[in-house]
Amino acid sequence: MSITKICCIGAGYVGGPTMSVIAQKCPHIQVTVVDLNEARIAAWNNPDVNKIPVYEPGLADVVAEARGRNLFFSMDADKAIDAAEMIFISVNTPTKTYGAGKGQAADLRYIELCARQIARVAKQDKIVIEKSTLPVRTASSIKSILDHVGNGVQFQILSNPEFLAEGTAVADLHQPDRILIGGDNTTTEGRAALEALVEIYAHWVPRERILTTNVWSSELSKLTANAFLAQRVSSINALSELCEQTGANINEISRAIGTDSRIGPKFLKASVGFGGSCFQKDILNLVYIARSYGLHEVAHYWEQVIIMNDHQKSRFAKKIVRTLYNTVSGKKIAFLGWAFKKDTNDTRESAAIYVADELLAEQAVITVYDPRVPAGQVYADLDYLKSRAADENRDLVKVAADPYEAMKEAHAVAILTEWDEFRTYNWQHVYDVMLKPAFVFDGRGIVNREALEQIGFHLYRIGSGE
Ligand code: UDX
Ligand code: UDX
Ligand code: ADP
Repeated sequence: MSITKICCIGAGYVGGPTMSVIAQKCPHIQVTVVDLNEARIAAWNNPDVNKIPVYEPGLADVVAEARGRNLFFSMDADKAIDAAEMIFISVNTPTKTYGAGKGQAADLRYIELCARQIARVAKQDKIVIEKSTLPVRTASSIKSILDHVGNGVQFQILSNPEFLAEGTAVADLHQPDRILIGGDNTTTEGRAALEALVEIYAHWVPRERILTTNVWSSELSKLTANAFLAQRVSSINALSELCEQTGANINEISRAIGTDSRIGPKFLKASVGFGGSCFQKDILNLVYIARSYGLHEVAHYWEQVIIMNDHQKSRFAKKIVRTLYNTVSGKKIAFLGWAFKKDTNDTRESAAIYVADELLAEQAVITVYDPRVPAGQVYADLDYLKSRAADENRDLVKVAADPYEAMKEAHAVAILTEWDEFRTYNWQHVYDVMLKPAFVFDGRGIVNREALEQIGFHLYRIGSGE
């Protein structure tokens, strides 16, 4: 089966970039991305490609190349679904905020709405692909809806999880470590559907990197990959605390173990805790699924990754309070960084939010500087926790446009994100304008101990007991 038209439901962080790259690499396929959100579609259609709603290095060029040629962004979902032989579902799957599984399970109502819409509209056989991160066995729910409320047309369901990371989305899409496609290879129609999607990726990805599995393995692999990556961070963070007690250095340990080819060097950077939209959500999901099958030891095992991450954020805040003579009440603390990692303006689940919340509970006064996060986002993140009134957050927290202004007359500087520019600040100047004794709490292990101590700073660095 040769595909000529693709529809993608959901023009978000995953759907937008992924479809842009498919359209770029397959000019013979017409790709239409639809969304309910009118403002988002309008932004994707903005004549100025630098104003598209997702900021990723290189993405504007990809969109500029394909948009209007074979890449379209539209509100008319019915039309695009009807025309396409292949439909990707790439809508959001937030953690449930109500009912059974509240706070852990994925909320699948948007997925179900998509399945019902496809069932209503489709007049010819279609391949439906789940692209969103979903709990295992979601494909069977989608299939059940399509088969029972559809117009008698045949649907093949594939799972094709996305592994791109923020900040490197285009590079990850152009040169993926692997493409994973789950499908039903026990039937002729199932094999044809799998092959149709393999064929699309094979336009730019070497075939040996395109893995096919059954649907359940594919669904579970995505959760497993994120759980493993997060687990590495929690493992190294657990040991960072031991290093601080023993005089070992976590960076030296990471280097020493990372050279073991069985372990590998990546994702061993100790930090103030992982954030981002995926890790916590996917692990909570994994824990919920395990528990729902009665696998309590499995659930308990993975839950520890989250518990350790929460501990890491909290002990960083406690370290600051303890070091500042057990009180931060009324003291100015400068935050360098608010984003969950460098090179992004995304703050979802960022460690900075939770560290700030604990310090505010101790009545600290915080000034935040982040090169990409606007003030409104900082306040929205704090308000969302509902720990205190919105105007109190605005009283206690200021957002500075200039880093030196943020650090002026502060008792302490806390580094929450590993932005490159923090490494090259004039620390002598910072010292001169701070209150004494001047403390630096480095939650990302990026500043130079010798240089700072020579200036006169008292330095605490995660994972360093020297
Ligand atoms: C281990 C370390 O590998 C080695 O670096 C250290 O110096 C001593 O301890 P060893 O005990 O000889 O070496 O065996 P290893 O090959 O690491 O296996 C340990 C156990 O893990 C075995 O029971 C093995 O069957 C099991 N294992 C290993 C698995 O179950 N799955 C795996 O993927 C790998
Ligand atoms: C992650 C996965 O990497 C990606 O494959 C998946 O599709 C989505 O989730 P992302 O959330 O964009 O991507 O960021 P990632 O680079 O994985 O970092 C996640 C968090 O872990 C960040 O807060 C980062 O600072 C932290 N981290 C990462 C560490 O603290 N130490 C490390 O060594 C690596
Ligand atoms: P992700 O990071 O998974 O891409 P986002 O929240 O960035 O998640 O994007 C998901 C997009 O899906 C949003 O723009 C949302 O408006 C859209 N969406 C959700 N449900 C539907 C639906 N039934 N039809 C069309 N678009 C939808």
